[in-house]
Amino acid sequence: MTIAALETLSFGLARTVRAARAAGHRLALLTGDRALYRHELARLPPGALDIVDVDTHDLDASRAALRALPDLAGLINSTDGWSVPAADLAAELGLPGPEPAAVRRLRDKLAVRLLLRERGLGPAAMPVDAGTTADDVRAGVGLPAVLKDSAGTSSRNVWLARDAAELASALEAAREAALRGRLLAEPYLTGPLYSAETLSFEGRTRLLGVFSRQVSPQPLVREESASFPVALPAKDAGALERWVGALLPAAGHLSGFAHVEFVLTAKGPELVEINRRVGGALVGEALCRALGVNIYDALIDTTLGRRPALLDGPEPTGPASAFVLVYPDRTGVLTGWSGLDGLAAHPGAPEWYPTMAPGDRVAHLADQRGCSGILLTEGPTAELALHRALSAAGAITPLIEE
Ligand SMILES: Nc1ncnc2c1ncn2[C@@H]1O[C@H](COP(=O)(O)OP(=O)(O)OP(=O)(O)O)[C@@H](O)[C@H]1O
Ligand SMILES: [Mg+2]
Repeated sequence: MTIAALETLSFGLARTVRAARAAGHRLALLTGDRALYRHELARLPPGALDIVDVDTHDLDASRAALRALPDLAGLINSTDGWSVPAADLAAELGLPGPEPAAVRRLRDKLAVRLLLRERGLGPAAMPVDAGTTADDVRAGVGLPAVLKDSAGTSSRNVWLARDAAELASALEAAREAALRGRLLAEPYLTGPLYSAETLSFEGRTRLLGVFSRQVSPQPLVREESASFPVALPAKDAGALERWVGALLPAAGHLSGFAHVEFVLTAKGPELVEINRRVGGALVGEALCRALGVNIYDALIDTTLGRRPALLDGPEPTGPASAFVLVYPDRTGVLTGWSGLDGLAAHPGAPEWYPTMAPGDRVAHLADQRGCSGILLTEGPTAELALHRALSAAGAITPLIEE
């Protein structure tokens, strides 16, 4: 039978094709832009999956493409941008899948915050509309605060306000920005950023492990690097698993992977956001390596409504990994990279995953849209893998022409 994906994450497609095949299915990818998957498609033999070119922003066109597939057994729901239409279409076509209302709520960072606040599981948050003043924001969430898009991704449209002057300019900038959702304000959480990578089934959650996440110096929040699995003291890991295990069902996420970003504050973990999918960039790859299994088998299982074996093990005993996002230092046209030839001399078996191709225009450097490629290394621990990744990535320079 066929399993379809309405777009997917930029990385992990090849492993998803293999997982579908292992479960006796063929994968059909509906996409409006094949170029997004060029790295993954290059790793697959020709004909390994069916690619249906369709405007995936057009619900009717996507529905027609899905109806035309032979014996459709499931629809993968794995991206932020398409999670709502994918949930609606799965429900409409009688396929297993998450409750569309729950998916809608999880795409709304303000709705999630308000719900969790009501249940005593997080800090205050408030909508910021045309009539909201700086004083309202200070009274509602205090300073430092964050203003952000309720449906934002890639760290776009996030403004840090540490004092009254920054709050005034953040309000002005946010009101001029083109948001995907609505504007919200919440307290700025002080401390290092992490993500809990989890798998749930019928409301029970397993913490697969924790990623560290380094971001640019304030006030930017551009993601720079990450490593997995962070070595937490056993009692902290247990507490985190209980925290995330309570948070996810409270937010309406009962089945499938989740990528839960949090700050480890002086008082413990505080939620930044929940994404109901595997983390982006090379999070899925790092999980597969550490756990020694193809975690996308569990994506196929939950897509089909089946209990995934990954809920019960194995433990992460494979290599740790780390990755660095490599950004150009200015905007312009990317012509290539220097330093890639020498990568093999670095420890940790560095691998280069380009996210742009020569000829692409680099227009934004303040968020992840400016990332030209990702360098992945392995190590015996996340800490050592990160040192190796930072060292090797320092040798790569994106070449830019004005
Ligand atoms: N309340 C907060 N306190 C501290 N930092 C925050 C807060 N909200 C957001 N951030 C920072 O801004 C970044 C982007 O915010 P958020 O994760 O909500 O949006 P996003 O655009 O979905 O990000 P991405 O797609 O990069 O995960 C976070 O990774 C974090 O570094
Ligand atoms: Mg985020």
